[in-house]
Amino acid sequence: MKALVTGAAGFVGSHTSEALLRLGHEVRGVDALTDYYDPMLKKANVQVLQDWARFDFRQADLLDADLAGLLDGVDVVFHLAAQPGVRSSWQNGFGVYAEANVMATQRLLEAARLSEVRRFVYASSSSVYGRAARYPTSEDAPTRPFSPYGVTKLAAEHLCTLYADNWGLPTVSLRYFTVYGPRQRPDMAMNRFIAAALEGHAIPVYGDGEQVRDFTFVQDVVAASLAAAEVADLAPGAVVNVAGGGSITVNGLVELLQTVVGRPVHTAEQPRQPGDVLQTGGTIDLAERLLGWRPQVAVPEGLAHQVAWQQSLLG
Ligand code: UGA
Repeated sequence: MKALVTGAAGFVGSHTSEALLRLGHEVRGVDALTDYYDPMLKKANVQVLQDWARFDFRQADLLDADLAGLLDGVDVVFHLAAQPGVRSSWQNGFGVYAEANVMATQRLLEAARLSEVRRFVYASSSSVYGRAARYPTSEDAPTRPFSPYGVTKLAAEHLCTLYADNWGLPTVSLRYFTVYGPRQRPDMAMNRFIAAALEGHAIPVYGDGEQVRDFTFVQDVVAASLAAAEVADLAPGAVVNVAGGGSITVNGLVELLQTVVGRPVHTAEQPRQPGDVLQTGGTIDLAERLLGWRPQVAVPEGLAHQVAWQQSLLG
């Protein structure tokens, strides 16, 4: 296949691109290389992909890029570009979220409906659920985001569904649950915790640390996305949870990290963050039924991979 991966220089985008290239596909990667975190990290991700002649990288912003050109000859779109992060979507920051997550997605959907694309995979988020009434949460549960970020991810998901309903665009929205693993964004919990443990600083824990997450290993997320691109019988507009299949508290994660790094770590309590839900957890029955997918990597194993990666960066 020929794939367009938006956000190809980012955490999940670079892994998705790499997996596609390893499978022999052609990949056109697009990324604006924004400075939400150090663009050098993104450039390093692109560098890895440039080992393949079948990888073509374009630095561009979806808000003003020539999208028809980017979609030319493309069979499958993996739309992973976004302004991520739950906790920084308040105040003036919201404009960036609205533009990068809603406006850019609408532009891309408009261009995609006029193209030959046979599947449009959108990276949605567990944050669309907000404080759910039931855990694990299934796809038919009410969506009531708890953060401005979640609102933008849900709005874009609705756009995907309505382009499917009106135009038959074969979209599928995958609700990723807190993705982790090598190349994870530096603002996320695991990255910050591991960095603190390896450098001997206190681990910043928001609130009492009893919040629960359904962490999902990045290679599992990639496998779900590839399955969503390939399966034949998927009704346009499908919405599917992609969750790790286990739950752990932030305090539990700190304890586990201690055993992985083999030395005691200490924590520093920080104020609870607005927008942070107390729990996430997703059912995975639908993913199994529609995509033939189940997560393979449990948190202890995945955490060890991420620790090894962060250790290698320290030299
Ligand atoms: C993550 C991503 O950042 C979002 O982009 C994504 O959309 C979302 O997952 C998702 O599931 O859809 P979050 O769950 O907040 O959001 O991910 P982490 O940054 O890994 O935080 C996990 C937990 O650790 C949160 O409860 C947070 O309060 C806590 N945390 C985080 C800390 O205690 N200290 C920190 O320094 C960072």
